[in-house]
Amino acid sequence: MGGKSDAADGPDQTTERLTFMLAISAFMAAFGTSFQYGYSSSVVDQPANIIKEFYNQSYSSFYSAPLTESSITVLWATTVSVMCLGGLLGSFLVVPLTERFGRKGALLISNVFSLIGAILFGFSKMANSYHMVIIGRIFVGVQHGKENFKNKTEDGIMSMKEEIHKDAAREMWKTTNDVYEKVRPSHDRAGVQYLLRQLGVLDNDLCDQDPSFTYTVLDVGAGTGKCTSVIKDILGKDARLAALDPVAGMLEQLKAAVPGVDTFVGPCESIPLPDNSVKAVISSQSFHFIANVTALREVNRVLVPGGRFGILFSVDDEASPLVHTVFEVIRKYKYPGCPEYFINTLQDTSWQACFGEAPLFSPLQEHVMPWEKQDILPDIESVVQLFMTFSATARETEVREECAESMRKLLAANPAVEQNGGHLEVPRLSALYWCTKNTADK
Ligand SMILES: C[S@@+](CC[C@H](N)C(=O)[O-])C[C@H]1O[C@@H](n2cnc3c(N)ncnc32)[C@H](O)[C@@H]1O
Repeated sequence: MGGKSDAADGPDQTTERLTFMLAISAFMAAFGTSFQYGYSSSVVDQPANIIKEFYNQSYSSFYSAPLTESSITVLWATTVSVMCLGGLLGSFLVVPLTERFGRKGALLISNVFSLIGAILFGFSKMANSYHMVIIGRIFVGVQHGKENFKNKTEDGIMSMKEEIHKDAAREMWKTTNDVYEKVRPSHDRAGVQYLLRQLGVLDNDLCDQDPSFTYTVLDVGAGTGKCTSVIKDILGKDARLAALDPVAGMLEQLKAAVPGVDTFVGPCESIPLPDNSVKAVISSQSFHFIANVTALREVNRVLVPGGRFGILFSVDDEASPLVHTVFEVIRKYKYPGCPEYFINTLQDTSWQACFGEAPLFSPLQEHVMPWEKQDILPDIESVVQLFMTFSATARETEVREECAESMRKLLAANPAVEQNGGHLEVPRLSALYWCTKNTADK
């Protein structure tokens, strides 16, 4: 993970342009839907007199007695307000429906409520039943409540994620060309090999010729290709590999370092590949950015039936006093809201929670193994430089300087670290996870 000294100075990879389509969409969203809905459809002001007249007529034929003025008012008030009741019920449906049927499915289902409402309204005159109008308003309310709540929460969540993602992408990009690329190690070959075997792409000789999928492995959050290059090295030049990352600049470096890999710019939440086109997806050292159910749905979608998803974290082993000392400093200086698993994925496993949110994969399996060849750094300054590339320390320049200084002091004063003299070993573990695509019950 890369650090940023000041994100605002970094080259921004996002293009913010007001296109014609965007302007029309924004206009329609503001004035074409909510504006009208907000007043006319909730208060039903314009056709009020016609509807009240119909109520009177319908009531009289049902109960053989005319409606009094106060009863009309009560019925009318009920007609207007039941929509809010429907809205309340609808908002409770958002989470279960979206989890069960996905965003698109839930949107389509919500149309059913509108349709039922429209049918009840449409036939109320024929049936001479004012009851149908009132019940129809409940259904329309359910639809509106579901959609409004869904849009608001999803917009909020998506823009929050977008912010985190933009931030991460920016700081990753900023340090890519210098410190990150130089000091962050690659991955342990034995660990990657172990994972590829679990994903069923290592010992299957027919894999590369199998025409039933386009790519043998898709590396999501591939960055500059540190893991992609190990994968290619293990699988051989005939393996069909693809790499996805939201930062185009990192993929440029990947293309130069690992030729022959197809690259796609974008986040894991929207993979530009067809359904059932990939044998195995790997997220290496990137799942902490990706841990959400939208991304998991996308991974599930592009995998072939029986395809597998693998996650690899190269974790600095906190059993080492050196690593523990540094991690304690990072915990103190990490940016506000930074989850603990950005520092130690083995200690805080809450990144796995998204797997429980929808039955997309078989239960995650885990294997943790030490690296075959551990990193020995020449001095404390190299250790500080290495750990300051953690995205958890991507903060303002002064805070970063304070953090680095604190690491220097504590490392120098720690007898357990000092004992090692000139041999500053940073022990690492490959934390490997894998699961198989569920094809039913998404
Ligand atoms: C620490 S780097 C890991 C790069 C590489 N896989 C490796 O093993 O070194 C994390 C990567 O995740 C990418 N990333 C951040 N948010 C992402 C998202 N929503 N979808 C896919 N990749 C994302 C970043 O751009 C960055 O390249």
